Amino acid sequence: MQNHPILVTGGAGFIGSNFILQWLGSEPGAVVNLDKLTYAGNLSNLETVASDPRYCFVHGDIGDRKLVGDLFHSHRFRAVVHFAAESHVDRSIRGPDDFVLTNVNGTFSLLEEARAYWCELPQDDKASFRFLHISTDEVYGSLGPASPAFSEATPYAPNSPYAASKAASDHLVRAYRHTYGLPTLTTNCSNNYGPYQFPEKLIPLAILNAMNGKPIPVYGDGQNVRDWLFVRDHCEAVRAVLRGGRVGQTYNIGGENEKPNLKIVELICSILDELRPGDPVVPHRKLITFVADRPGHDRRYAMDIGKIKAELGWHPRETFSSGLRKTVEWYLVHESWIREVTSGSYRQWIATQYSR
Ligand code: NAD
Ligand code: DAU
Repeated sequence: MQNHPILVTGGAGFIGSNFILQWLGSEPGAVVNLDKLTYAGNLSNLETVASDPRYCFVHGDIGDRKLVGDLFHSHRFRAVVHFAAESHVDRSIRGPDDFVLTNVNGTFSLLEEARAYWCELPQDDKASFRFLHISTDEVYGSLGPASPAFSEATPYAPNSPYAASKAASDHLVRAYRHTYGLPTLTTNCSNNYGPYQFPEKLIPLAILNAMNGKPIPVYGDGQNVRDWLFVRDHCEAVRAVLRGGRVGQTYNIGGENEKPNLKIVELICSILDELRPGDPVVPHRKLITFVADRPGHDRRYAMDIGKIKAELGWHPRETFSSGLRKTVEWYLVHESWIREVTSGSYRQWIATQYSR
């Protein structure tokens, strides 16, 4: 089984594509990428590996039981790394349907097909198979200013439709381990940033708007706190859990890097002042605009990452200042990628979301 490929779902999205690029650059095994190519999926993220014989792309939905079953039987996967999801909180508030369909029903379908395949494996292969589910810190709810960071034992209290759909999928994964013995693992990670992030999320949205002299929207008072992690560090953590995580366990992943949103956009503006002094509006911070708050906006997230550090020796390697600078520089030199992802439906989303 060790020579068999892994199945990555949602590999054309932000974290999934970073994961596949890192995997093919550092692991010997092959990857099959199953992605529906929603607005958030972009194959150009993976153009540098498109002709790698160890990489195979399949266009499809994790909820398509026939397709997923056929993939398991033709490729004989040794593991599944399940990234595919609807991932944007604001979209889940405007229209939760797709979040339930993909994050809950889609994960259920994937678990069912994984279980059917796994049940038929010889004993040794059964023991080495892994189903690694990628989840979020948002399942734990919101922290007070002085509360200790979320640990793996923190009770679930999801507040947005997105967080609730991820919590539901986490519970299904747990139940498949407990009831059927499927060798599952779950990771719960904090906010990622870095190359290939779709510019509906705070950091790339702020970079693009600032470069183009457009208002940088900050929700509420800008004091909501997130724990930011460079995406490649997250991918390394996922690989570490796949390699050495204890079956049935959950692992929190985070950057130990809490920052209020206003501070994040101010830092982006300072980097751009230095790199783009000729932009339409400088200093860029003149563009910061407070807008109506997100309904039910969680105040603070922070992750206790003691368990993954102690058990697997993983820790974040990128500092926030170097990671943020790399990220800004990446967006500055990837104009055609930006043009591609900000056409059509993106403009419609921005107009709807920020028209208030
Ligand atoms: P993303 O929105 O950038 O990408 C999601 C990908 O999944 C896209 O390529 C999309 O086409 C694909 N997809 C959506 N529905 C599908 C379906 N039904 N079948 C097949 N493919 C489908 O998301 P992301 O930011 O890369 O997040 C990846 C995973 O990591 C998600 O499960 C998310 O909940 C989790 N996560 C994200 C963050 C973060 O900060 N971005 C942090 C913690 C956890
Ligand atoms: O915590 C992990 C989660 O991080 C992941 O599970 C989600 O998939 C991912 O999208 C992200 O969720 P957030 O809601 O925290 O990310 P977002 O970039 O949308 O927002 C970050 C913070 O910035 C949040 O407090 C809301 C605020 N914000 C966001 C946008 C888009 C603004 O102030 N203005 C904005 O325009």
